[in-house]
Amino acid sequence: MNPSIKQISIDQLQVGMFITEGNSEWVPNENYSRKGMVKRAEVIEQIRALGVKELYIDTSLGKDVEPANAVKNKASKPLPVPKVSLAKEIENAKAMQSEATALISRCMADIKMGAALELTEFTDISGRMIESLSQNYNALACVTQLREKDRYLMEHSFNVSVLMGILAHALGYSGDTLQEMVTGALLHDVGKIRIADEILHKPGGFLPEEWDEMKRHVTYGEEVLQKTPSITSIMMDICAQHHERIDGSGYPRGLSGDQIPIHSRMASVVDVYDAITAERVYHKGMAPTVALKKLMEWSTEGHLDPQLVRHFINAMGVYPVGSVVELDKQKLAVVLEANPNDPKKPKVIQMYDLKIRRYVNKLAIDLADERCGRHIVKAVYAESYGIKLEGFI
Ligand SMILES: [Fe+2]
Repeated sequence: MNPSIKQISIDQLQVGMFITEGNSEWVPNENYSRKGMVKRAEVIEQIRALGVKELYIDTSLGKDVEPANAVKNKASKPLPVPKVSLAKEIENAKAMQSEATALISRCMADIKMGAALELTEFTDISGRMIESLSQNYNALACVTQLREKDRYLMEHSFNVSVLMGILAHALGYSGDTLQEMVTGALLHDVGKIRIADEILHKPGGFLPEEWDEMKRHVTYGEEVLQKTPSITSIMMDICAQHHERIDGSGYPRGLSGDQIPIHSRMASVVDVYDAITAERVYHKGMAPTVALKKLMEWSTEGHLDPQLVRHFINAMGVYPVGSVVELDKQKLAVVLEANPNDPKKPKVIQMYDLKIRRYVNKLAIDLADERCGRHIVKAVYAESYGIKLEGFI
């Protein structure tokens, strides 16, 4: 066989791939083109709807499947050097968080009423988020740590898109692909709108049938996005496959390894990270540093892509921005700006005294400055001290 002809599964088919002649058996009638470039995500869904499981593509005429080890041994791209101060960008980042969460909330209500999703509203905000990350990525990274318990779904969607932007940048993505990844992340849990509130907000463990319904949010999301004009295959995959796992233990299709495209594997990493760092009614949140260790554990166990986890940890740093650390002299501080040259010495703002268990006057400290003589003792979980980050970010 021509070496450029490759058999792939329907789950690997993407916009930009060239379908070859060899697939004629599933072409239903003469009016359908038997080969050609896949230009729209809807086409993939039409082919899937025909029950096609596998098909042939010509990689010399279109996109190839990205191998699972494409990111292996690749060095993480450093995050962009901030062009504006954190103080300047943070207000913009906070405004974007309010705007994005309000947009998700409104669109979900619209979908419930049967309206279609307006994609341009999401691409508009994802474009501005990418711009903010390039101005000073610390701002949006900090804002992901500002959470309100009853707004989890909206904030989680926003956070996953910020973290997706950070990871995608570290992997060298840019332009349309980067924007599609960030937009897809904003929409990844859109199907939760069809889950009944009693299940979605249930404080205790799920009954088996409730868990089955909860898992259906992926399929519901796909159904919403299939009806969305101009949706791309990257956005669709992120929604459809963010709960798939490398070892095949995920859902809904139990895909494994190479069957899961890179953008879906990236979504799994950032989705899990944000979920475990959030405080929920049924679980305590983890300190970001602890959560990163957990990701590493799950990647060794085969659930998450180890190379992507490595890139994500490199991008987030030893002490992620927005996390709380204990300094010497028994003081707590919030990490505000990463230090790419020495990840253990970020810029922090000291604000709590552990000896008297009280807030103290805010003090900005650049731990990289030798003259300050201060250092981080360990990462802590802010909630354990009842610390609210709002006043410090
Ligand atoms: Fe999800």
